[in-house]
Amino acid sequence: MKPKRMLSGIQPTGDVHLGNYFGMMKPAIEMQDSVETYLFIADLHALTSSIEPDALRKNTISVALDFISCGLNPEKTIFFKQSDVPEVTELTWILSCQTSMGLLERCHSYKDKTARGMISNHGLFAYPVLMAADILIYKSDIVPVGRDQKQHLEVTRDIAIRFNNRYGEILTIPEAVIRNESAALPGTDGQKMSKSYGNTIELFGDEKTLRKKIMGIVTDSKGLEDAKNPDDCIPYQIYKLLSGKKNADEMAEKLRAGGYGYGHAKKELFDAYWEHFRPFREKRSAILNDSSYIEKVLADGAVKAGGTARKTVCEIRKAVGLK
Ligand code: TYM
Repeated sequence: MKPKRMLSGIQPTGDVHLGNYFGMMKPAIEMQDSVETYLFIADLHALTSSIEPDALRKNTISVALDFISCGLNPEKTIFFKQSDVPEVTELTWILSCQTSMGLLERCHSYKDKTARGMISNHGLFAYPVLMAADILIYKSDIVPVGRDQKQHLEVTRDIAIRFNNRYGEILTIPEAVIRNESAALPGTDGQKMSKSYGNTIELFGDEKTLRKKIMGIVTDSKGLEDAKNPDDCIPYQIYKLLSGKKNADEMAEKLRAGGYGYGHAKKELFDAYWEHFRPFREKRSAILNDSSYIEKVLADGAVKAGGTARKTVCEIRKAVGLK
């Protein structure tokens, strides 16, 4: 039977944070042993945010470095930079011509970003079509993402179904893989963790800064002695993803019992977090200064990804009458 193909991407718009890690990177890394895996740095998508050229170059390498440090295995996974496979922009155009304005006008992400003051450009509006092209060009079966990308997956499915109805069964209809427990990890202010909210906890960086961020996570005003509800405690919600069930149950019990303050929970969270990322930090510092290694991994990945993409685009050109 044909192996399932998994694909996902991340924008190089800043340092990778715990939301990215639990929402997408960890699930993808866990799956790379059992399914054919494509992972990429979405640098074309990053252009929608008017990022500076030097920042884009630097972030692309550092996000790739972080992903590999966390366990992405370039021997198993096709890991590449989105813009190294330019066929994806051709498919975006072809799909754009099949995508109704109404479908894109309904997308929350565009509305949220412009409401927050991001400059509304055509790329930002058409973002979901490029994302659909990313997924469909590699005939991906499954796409691990956080909940904020769910609607983009629905748009992708919609575009693919319409395309197939008109031109024949060419495109694979993908499915989102969203893990309930980590679909929308809260940030230090309680909103969804996001680079654009300034509430992130990064995977790597200076210990003192990261400790300060964790100790600064918002909580309610219950005192040390009060009984607390773990579900209302953000440090607990992050801790349970890092610590394993037994330790998480123990923290939940201590919170419920009272006599255990939010400061204690944050301290335990910091320790678990620092320990969890220790081996990844070690790996990262070993390859940190070897940007030619990262560049080579991405270049090799682009050759493989390009081969798959060209096959799909060739079929599509024929189907729509360009050939
Ligand atoms: P991006 O770069 O915003 O985020 C990368 C991944 O991290 C997930 N994520 C979260 N998950 C849980 N809780 C959070 N607080 C949190 N914050 C971020 C995101 O859901 C995402 O899975 N459009 C995509 C990149 C992309 C893509 C694709 C993804 C481009 N083309 C094709 C999949 C398939 C994005 O901006 O992700």
